[in-house]
Amino acid sequence: MKEKKDIRILAFESSCDETSTAVVKNGSEIESLIVATQIKSHARFGGVVPEVASRHHIEVITQITREALEEAKVSWEDLDAIAVTHGPGLVGALLIGINAAKAASMATGLPLIGVDHIMGHISAAQLVEPIEYPALALQVSGGHTEIVLLKDPTHFEIVGDTRDDAAGEAYDKIGRVLGVNYPAGKTIDQWAHQGKDTFGFPRAMIDEDNYDFSFSGLKSAFINTCHHADQLGQELDKYDLAASFQAAVVDVLAEKTMWAIRQYQPKTFIMGGGVAANLGLRERMNNEIAALEKAPKVILPPLKLCGDNAAMIGAAAYNQYLAGNFADLTLDADPSMELPYAEDYK
Ligand code: KG4
Ligand code: ZN
Repeated sequence: MKEKKDIRILAFESSCDETSTAVVKNGSEIESLIVATQIKSHARFGGVVPEVASRHHIEVITQITREALEEAKVSWEDLDAIAVTHGPGLVGALLIGINAAKAASMATGLPLIGVDHIMGHISAAQLVEPIEYPALALQVSGGHTEIVLLKDPTHFEIVGDTRDDAAGEAYDKIGRVLGVNYPAGKTIDQWAHQGKDTFGFPRAMIDEDNYDFSFSGLKSAFINTCHHADQLGQELDKYDLAASFQAAVVDVLAEKTMWAIRQYQPKTFIMGGGVAANLGLRERMNNEIAALEKAPKVILPPLKLCGDNAAMIGAAAYNQYLAGNFADLTLDADPSMELPYAEDYK
């Protein structure tokens, strides 16, 4: 029997503040992964500055392309396709990766694949274990908070979404009030483990008959509590504040996601995005799912695959490769790209 040929993809990710390249084999095996982070350059501004991001991407992209090939011990001839995130994200940042990928594709003649950043985050799971379909994903990052139904490897639909702020955005905003540098999620998570839920912040939309979220009310309640105490000259315990905020976020995320799991009965449950690194959320989801009578397989990618990285783009690109979904040199950045909403989205 003829042996199946390995498919090796060089992937680029530059949608926000990490420039990343990777070589991924068969959509599941990371042969190399390089991540050049710019966090320090943006921290002093309290968020990502688009112009600064683009400039950093340009500075490192050629170098980290070389490094990805070297680390994987492959040359251009060993590759089968070039993949790149083309949205959603910062337009100027996306364009750097897209142009690098197009140049590589044009110079080598290798096919080009455009990847949705959110599909990439979710597909990071297949770098850990094979995904069985249908699957359900909780995608939580600085820009997105969505429950996504994976019908098959290339058809993903939103069944729940945030009506306002993303969960990570809320972490970063309340972090600023507590004097924590951007991105604040990890520190707030650590503080939360040292405090107690004493403030009883609101759990918005938790009883509503849909899978949507809202975090702006929680953020305002948090900020008002801090300002009010400030005016009275009271000092609030930062650990209890963090614990109370996190308990409210985790409660709504877990509650709604569990409803969706009961409704859609997925074979696999996945968490993706930067907030999926949250230890409180991981623990809660693991426990709740373990208590189900018919529990799906759970894939919580390791922390380094939760943040933005090109390996997840290589994984998602492999699925597109098998489906024959290739781009051409007209591939453009789509900063506000969105997955389709499910037909029964409420
Ligand atoms: O997916 P990601 O790296 O970039 C986006 O596409 O947004 O997510 C970054 C977000 C930031 O808002 C950061 O504060 C948050 O993920 N984050 C966390 C944790 N680690 C990172 N939020 C809560 N708990 C964490 N442990
Ligand atoms: Zn991301």
